[in-house]
Amino acid sequence: MIQKFSMKFFIDTANLAQIKEANELGILDGVTTNPSLMAKEGIKGEAAIINHYKAICELVDGDISAEVIATDFAGIVEEGKKLAAIHKNIVVKVPMIKDGIKAIKYFSDAGIRTNCTLVFSAGQAILAAKAGASYVSPFIGRIDDSGWDGVQLIEQIVHIFSIQGFKTEVLAASIRFPNHIIRCAEAGAHVCTCPLDSILGLLKHPLTDIGLAKFLEDAKKTQ
Ligand code: E4P
Repeated sequence: MIQKFSMKFFIDTANLAQIKEANELGILDGVTTNPSLMAKEGIKGEAAIINHYKAICELVDGDISAEVIATDFAGIVEEGKKLAAIHKNIVVKVPMIKDGIKAIKYFSDAGIRTNCTLVFSAGQAILAAKAGASYVSPFIGRIDDSGWDGVQLIEQIVHIFSIQGFKTEVLAASIRFPNHIIRCAEAGAHVCTCPLDSILGLLKHPLTDIGLAKFLEDAKKTQ
């Protein structure tokens, strides 16, 4: 089945300078963060976390995934509501656990968008989609790390969502290198969230550099 959409590019970082650099390329559609990425930037405490999300939302006009820390239904709902109140573009990132699924259904009914994270199987993706998740995030790099093929899982979930008519978008996460992005595009991922290096890696080809050097050399003869 041919689907008509173009794969969205999100950047997978909480680093403001990298978000700004990717945004200035003009190809950025959103941002994903997680507690590890926030900790890496030294963001600590509720006020600092909220301010950091505000700063990201000011930089990028697109969906910004903000992850809850709570793992029980009441806690996820309370935290998710606070995050969603920061900005209209915030998507509440909820872990793939039983209470997470309940919370995704709650948020979906309340009109709050969600990204179901830590997805490693098609079954998990189906459950999240059924609960009304806006996005599911299969972690393809971590699947590859454990000796399986992460992109195959993207293909499988995209196929299932397409034949079942789920509106949930497949957000390929845990990208490790540029070829992951290309393979996710081939597999029909709706979104790819990538480290800045992997996005910039798409620019590179030695023949481009050699060709440009030759053109610039020859251009001198025309001046
Ligand atoms: C993004 O939504 C995920 O949290 C992230 O891509 C995980 O990436 P990692 O496997 O490199 O930590």
